[in-house]
Amino acid sequence: MDKDKLSSAAKAIVAKQKGVLAADESNSTIKKRFDSIRVESTEENRRRYREILFSTQGIESYIGGVILFDETLRQSNQEGIPFADLLSGRGIIPGIKVDKGADSLALCPEEKITGGLDGLRERLIEYRNMGAEFAKWRAVIEIRERDVPTSFGIRANAHALARYAALCQELDIVPIVEPEVLMDGSHDIERCEAVTSGVLEAVFTELDAHHVFFEGMLLKPNMVIAGIKCTSQEKVQRVAEATLRCLTRYVPAAVPGIIFLSGGQGPEDATEHLNAINGMGPHPWQVSFSYGRALQAPVLATWKGREDNVTAAQKIFLKRCRLNSLACGGKYNRAMERAE
Ligand code: 13P
Repeated sequence: MDKDKLSSAAKAIVAKQKGVLAADESNSTIKKRFDSIRVESTEENRRRYREILFSTQGIESYIGGVILFDETLRQSNQEGIPFADLLSGRGIIPGIKVDKGADSLALCPEEKITGGLDGLRERLIEYRNMGAEFAKWRAVIEIRERDVPTSFGIRANAHALARYAALCQELDIVPIVEPEVLMDGSHDIERCEAVTSGVLEAVFTELDAHHVFFEGMLLKPNMVIAGIKCTSQEKVQRVAEATLRCLTRYVPAAVPGIIFLSGGQGPEDATEHLNAINGMGPHPWQVSFSYGRALQAPVLATWKGREDNVTAAQKIFLKRCRLNSLACGGKYNRAMERAE
């Protein structure tokens, strides 16, 4: 493990108020996104769409890294330049999703466990040779009535995350550690805070036990937020305070960056929450974004699969990248949404 290389790559991804574009939707997930705009999910349409994102002029000022899916890392732009080279040529670090998705945890049918550890060392070597400098693994924690998640379910996911992170670092690949407590459900913000606290505590206990080098990783957590079906949705400041309380207690200051997932928040809400969290800084870590839907939903809705919409789709993409970067410095306000 080259600690200097890992820590400088981790820092570079979140330097200068930059964040990460999560464009690593699996083929089944991107199909759902394409279905919503009535675009067929063919390999070529997926390639075209990713090219629109990656070739948007100016995003390099706001985006430090892009997470790719296996298929996308093997694809190229129209001129035949591999996407990984296109991105790194613009100063954006390419990364790769390496988990194989979540399935039910055997004998615990209400909980999920993420797969993909078998053969991971070999896959990481191949991805590194193709230009990936960081990786992502997502654990999925659902909040249900009564006793779910259990401490066993949390521990099992934390253990898998730590095994993945150690394998990455052995090969000088920066691991993004993503324990996602889902927003689905009717739980309130207090329940989300309690579960997220337990998850982060377990994750850092396992990372430490697996000798993971905290300075050479990034954490990708959920914000602390009420479930989507909860009748009382909290104000922006309350979300920021609960999220920070949780992070301050459980995330070591040695971790260089916390990059939130958006998890189903609307694009403007995700930006506003990030802004409020940074407004309460300075923090020991860079606090930034690694959004999928909150960056891409307006792009998809504008593009709709049509060539004559590409310029408008790229414009809206650049705007979301820029506004989220402003939120990394606590300099965003909602009026900026209407100003352009
Ligand atoms: P969302 O921002 O859409 O939650 O996606 C982020 C991600 O990478 C989920 O793994």
